[in-house]
Amino acid sequence: MGKWGVFYSSVTGNTKMIAEKIAATVGEAEVLPVEEMPEDLSAYEVVALGYWLRLGGPDPKMMQYLPRVKHATVILFETHGTDPGSEHAVTAYARAAYLMGEGCQILGTFGCQGRINPALLEKRKDAAPDDPHGGAEAKERWQRAASHPDENDLAAAAEFTAQMQRKLLLHRKYMERKEKHL
Ligand SMILES: Cc1cc2nc3c(=O)[nH]c(=O)nc-3n(C[C@H](O)[C@H](O)[C@H](O)COP(=O)(O)O)c2cc1C
Repeated sequence: MGKWGVFYSSVTGNTKMIAEKIAATVGEAEVLPVEEMPEDLSAYEVVALGYWLRLGGPDPKMMQYLPRVKHATVILFETHGTDPGSEHAVTAYARAAYLMGEGCQILGTFGCQGRINPALLEKRKDAAPDDPHGGAEAKERWQRAASHPDENDLAAAAEFTAQMQRKLLLHRKYMERKEKHL
């Protein structure tokens, strides 16, 4: 298996935690903040890109770097205040993918909740019930996010990484067989 490059954007550390778990599971991986991502990504078998959600999409820093990722096998991972698997979380993958440069292949995606910056919650605490960030439902969601990423999220990130390694191997074998029979 070749080396992975794991590049992340993280303000309060949630996404960084997942990035480090992915890199530790791979073993042969470089894990760096996205602003230190090399121009030339050809040394990496997989480029894993991690961001936090803002306005239902990748955060502004990651948005700047996504177009530079070209001709790579990519994993997208995200942390968010919203519930995992929610429409909001899933649409964010599409928004990230849309911004990537040409020739990329998406191997897989991973997401989990991440504790929301308390300073932001303080600002939103009196939001009106008809504001998307107001009302009891939003407050319950913040509470659900508050303990994440937790041990289960880290274990899921490790399992996801192992699954991606298997997927890559299977894909490679499949392509080799296909070429032989052409
Ligand atoms: C300004 C701001 C905007 C956010 N917007 C969203 C959002 O649109 N959707 C969402 O699910 N979470 C949102 N969040 C929550 C973060 O994405 C989440 O807490 C994330 O885990 C933070 O990652 P980090 O610790 O790596 O910085 C927002 C957080 C902040 C501070």
